[in-house]
Amino acid sequence: MSLLSLVIAVLLNLVSAQSPLAHTKIGQSKSLAKDYLLPSHVKPSLYQVKLEPNFDFDIFNGSVRITISVVTTTNAVVLHTHQLTIETASISLLDVNGTVVNSVAGTSFSNDDKDFYNIGFEEDLVAGSVYTLVIDSFSGILNSENDGFYLAKYTDEEGNTN
Ligand SMILES: *[C@@H]1O[C@H](CO)[C@@H](O)[C@H](O)[C@H]1NC(C)=O
Ligand SMILES: *[C@@H]1O[C@H](CO)[C@@H](O)[C@H](O)[C@H]1NC(C)=O
Repeated sequence: MSLLSLVIAVLLNLVSAQSPLAHTKIGQSKSLAKDYLLPSHVKPSLYQVKLEPNFDFDIFNGSVRITISVVTTTNAVVLHTHQLTIETASISLLDVNGTVVNSVAGTSFSNDDKDFYNIGFEEDLVAGSVYTLVIDSFSGILNSENDGFYLAKYTDEEGNTN
């Protein structure tokens, strides 16, 4: 049950990159609004997430493969992440045949409340193309306050806390 909650939380967290405008706040500046639009350059269509929670230490690690369709040619992909440690060296971009086609030039976290994780590539991702973005290794902390990933504790019929 806890693992299922985790998986759902991860999916919701990453899928939110799809609708960046949902995060737009009234009264924000134009340049900020532009930042929020960045993720629409690519559209994610399929998420394959693997997670391994370690309940002894309240941590988890995992990997994700995201199928993306490029709407506008861009050299960056922006994900919405929250309190995740992403191993940059584990990021790769594959074409539809599974061939590595690009390499990461650099990554950065937005240093504000947007929780955007920017992945810059050496070469452009071409409009109309479909790629698989692979993040082979990320980790995070399981806790009850984190809105992206949380440790769902529940009490079963026998009164055991899980
Ligand atoms: C979590 O980390 C361990 C140790 O590095 C590794 O063996 C395992 O495959 C990882 N699990 C996932 C889902 O990435
Ligand atoms: C994938 O492989 C097929 C068959 O070999 C080829 O026709 C196609 O061009 C390849 N696609 C890409 C994006 O390389």
